[in-house]
This record gives sequence, C-alpha cells and structure tokens, in this order.
Amino acid sequence: MRILVTGATGFVGSHLIPALLEAGHDVVALVRNRDRYSGPASVTVKQGDLLEPGSFEHALSGVDAGYYLVHSMHSGPSFEERDRRAARNFARAASESDIERVIYLGGLGVNGDRLSRHLRSRREVERILDSGTYDLTTLRAAIIIGSGSMSYELIRQLTERFPIMVVSTWIQTPCQPISIDDAVEYLTRVLSVPETADDTFEIGGPDVLTYREIVMRIARATSGRQPLVVTVPIHSLRLSTYWVDMVTDIPSSVAKPLLCGVRTPVVVTDTRIRSLIPIELTPFEEAVIQTLDRSYTRASSET
Ligand SMILES: NC(=O)c1ccc[n+]([C@@H]2O[C@H](COP(=O)([O-])OP(=O)(O)OC[C@H]3O[C@@H](n4cnc5c(N)ncnc54)[C@H](OP(=O)(O)O)[C@@H]3O)[C@@H](O)[C@H]2O)c1
Repeated sequence: MRILVTGATGFVGSHLIPALLEAGHDVVALVRNRDRYSGPASVTVKQGDLLEPGSFEHALSGVDAGYYLVHSMHSGPSFEERDRRAARNFARAASESDIERVIYLGGLGVNGDRLSRHLRSRREVERILDSGTYDLTTLRAAIIIGSGSMSYELIRQLTERFPIMVVSTWIQTPCQPISIDDAVEYLTRVLSVPETADDTFEIGGPDVLTYREIVMRIARATSGRQPLVVTVPIHSLRLSTYWVDMVTDIPSSVAKPLLCGVRTPVVVTDTRIRSLIPIELTPFEEAVIQTLDRSYTRASSET
C-alpha cells in the first residue's frame, strides 16, 4: 500500500516509518521543513503545513491510507486551536482524495469532566477526523515509553534529577503506559485487520501503575537510587511547572498541559484490540531498559 505519514518528524512518526517500510509499504512523509527531515532514503518526502490549506494536499495524491500523528503542543500555549484547524484541514482534504483509511493515535481517558485540557483537545481532534468520508481507526494510548516521548521524558527527567520529590495526590493516579515498539506494532497491524476500520480501540502495556510506581520503577531501572516521594494534599500546577522549568529540558508549553493530565486515570477499559491483534506486550521496566540501551547505542555511534 502507499501510506501517508503526517507528523513524520515526531516521536511516534519517526518510529512508525521504518516499521511500515519493513512491512513492504511505500511511505510518503509529510513534513513542514524538508531540510530538517532525516528519515530513511526510500521514503518519498512531501513538504506542507496542515495549517496552510493549499500547501499539503499534493501529499494525499495516490495514497491508500494515512496516519494522523500531528500535535501542536511544541508551538506554544494555544495548541487546541491549532490542533483543531489542522485536523479540519486534513479531514477536508482527505475526504476529497481517494484515501480509504485514516489511523489516528489519540489519548486514553474516560470521556467527561475529568479529562484534562490536553486530553479534551485530543478527543476533539478524534471527532473532527471522524467527520471525514474515509474509515477512521483511532487508537487511544496513555504514556508511550521511548526516547523522545515528551510525556515519558518529563517523568524520567524529574525522577533522575530530584532526590526528594514533593508531589500532590496525583501521584496515586493509575496509568497504563505502553512501549513504543508495541504502539508501533498496533499502528502497523491495524492496516491488515479490516475489523479495525471505522472504530476506536484502547491500547496499553501489561502493567497498570500509579505515577508513584512509575517513578520508582524508572528510578530502579535507570540509577538504582529511589527518590524520596513526599505527598502533600494540594495540586499546585504553578509549583510543578516551576520545577519542570528548573530541572528538565521540556518546554513549559508542553509540560503544563501534560502535568494537568496526571489527575486523569488513563487505563484501558476496552480490551477488544487484544483479540484482534494479539501481541506479546512489553513489561514496563523492560521498555524503560530498552529505551536506555537504545539511547546509549545512539550516543556512542554519534561520538
Ligand atoms: N508521545 C506520547 O507519549 C503519546 C501518548 C499517547 C498518544 N500520543 C499521540 O501520538 C500522536 C503523535 O505524538 P508524538 O509524541 O509523536 O508528537 P510529537 O513528537 O510532538 O510530533 C508532532 C508532529 O506533528 C507535526 N506537526 C505539528 N504541527 C503541524 C502542522 N501544522 N502541519 C504538519 N505537521 C505538523 C510536527 O512536525 P514539526 O517537526 O514540523 O514540528 C511533528 O512531526 C499525537 O496524536 C499524540 O496525542 C502520543
């Protein structure tokens, strides 16, 4: 199949493309700046911006299916409006093209008032994409474990850099992270499972953990030194954002909406994907160690 990947330069897109090539597909990568893209040589690179109608539609020509992996959090605080416009522009253009399937990776969490601003926006993008004439498959995931994943990097860097963490009650919120390899396997394999067309599925790893357990397990896998976690009965976003600014390299425009989201339980409640696409899921700590190993391998090959 000829497959379009939007968000090709992003964390998920850059892991997905090699897997699609490996599965024998022709891949078209939509990027905003061709000069900054360094993906595999066999990829057809098309330049365009989803916020600029007229600039990206050419990438949809002759494409059978497309992945929607676009996220605007890096571009500043009003990400909802940009994500809404980008999704509308894509849905309109894809509906006018011959594309038959679109696959969107969104966020886990039960609908309702408890969804954070970030998760509500991810859900809005899902609804907009669902208005197109193609069959939409949505996979909803919590934190994806892998180097370059903003949500994972945020927790890892806080864990590694704080010997004492003063946190609020969100530390007990349950979360079901998934490794990037497992997320990519689901994303790739939905293409060959017709029952996944025009439907929404939840994906997660084998472990449901509180954020406290996530912190402790990352600490055990990375340094062996566990931080002292002190819980206080308040949720001070300003304080948390201040720490993140001080000790991590995650921009506050990204960290703030992610930190708001930690109050929402993000756990799989619909397990249908497990029988449609049976895969052996990677345990949390194994995924963390794999991420570390790959970072070391990459760092040593660059020196
Ligand atoms: N990472 C996670 O832990 C996680 C967890 C659950 C779900 N997801 C979902 O997975 C999807 C991808 O996330 P990610 O972590 O890969 O995000 P990411 O690393 O921030 O990548 C976002 C991508 O969107 C592109 N983009 C932004 N605005 C664009 C525009 N106007 N036109 C064209 N491309 C544009 C960026 O291109 P530039 O390089 O040009 O900026 C980049 O390639 C999102 O839907 C996210 O909600 C991620």
